[in-house]
Amino acid sequence: MRNVDQDNITQAVIARLADTPDPRLREIMTSLVQHLHAFARDVHLTEAEWFQGIQFLTATGHKCDDKRQEFILASDVLGLSMLVVAMNNDKPAGCTESTVFGPFYVEGAPHYAHGDDVANGAAGEPCQVTGTVRGIDGEPIADAVINVWQADSEGHYDVQNPALTHAQGRGQLRSGPRGEFHFRSVLAEAYPIPTDGPVGDMLRATKRHPWRPAHLHFMIEAPGYETLITHVFRDGDQYLDSDAVFGVRQSLIAPWTQSPDGGWRLDYDFVLNSAKASA
Ligand code: BEZ
Ligand code: FE
Repeated sequence: MRNVDQDNITQAVIARLADTPDPRLREIMTSLVQHLHAFARDVHLTEAEWFQGIQFLTATGHKCDDKRQEFILASDVLGLSMLVVAMNNDKPAGCTESTVFGPFYVEGAPHYAHGDDVANGAAGEPCQVTGTVRGIDGEPIADAVINVWQADSEGHYDVQNPALTHAQGRGQLRSGPRGEFHFRSVLAEAYPIPTDGPVGDMLRATKRHPWRPAHLHFMIEAPGYETLITHVFRDGDQYLDSDAVFGVRQSLIAPWTQSPDGGWRLDYDFVLNSAKASA
């Protein structure tokens, strides 16, 4: 086909996808082309503006390395991460809701026993975290793998500090026979997502703040249950209604209380959805 013009180019590109062997890939690519072209038409994108878009994507790629994932950050601040989470985690009432994974999970976190301090030297006020892991019928889930990760009182995850050679504020433990768990850490505090890259430029250009309300990240895995990726948010935080990445769910907000010894306490019970029976 020659002489494609602005009226028929969308169909021309979609026709070129007709031989894509994987039907799902064909569906996704076709829709992507349709929506990209509709977007360009909608705003009547100029060549200079699209070049700026290319520069943004290039800078986003250049900012990525094994510790920094600027594309996840971009997806998060555009609400795309939370949209995908929400669409794919429609669970029965009573199950703990899911929220964004974020870019700071690291595989292979140190293993800890109940009562251990996962802060491992991270700065912050001491905090005890207890809770249980259960199924939807209330059954305790023993031996669930609980991954927890959090920022320190300066708002930094360990992976953001190139001088650190060991894990801080992250760990893996297993629930006990009654589904219970207990670890020590530091108080979760609100923090800004990284703004020293193109995503930060975008936030500034649109007059958006980069703050996330204080939270602890959890990933909980157990055979026979859906893996739960979520946070627990600290009640009373000033950013609960304006989270930079749209991750707050009311059911995930919990009180951190001060104990008589001056430390903080959080008690939160998780409920996992049963795994879908495989066909
Ligand atoms: C986080 O909570 O770790 C996070 C989530 C999305 C973007 C940046 C950080
Ligand atoms: Fe976080």
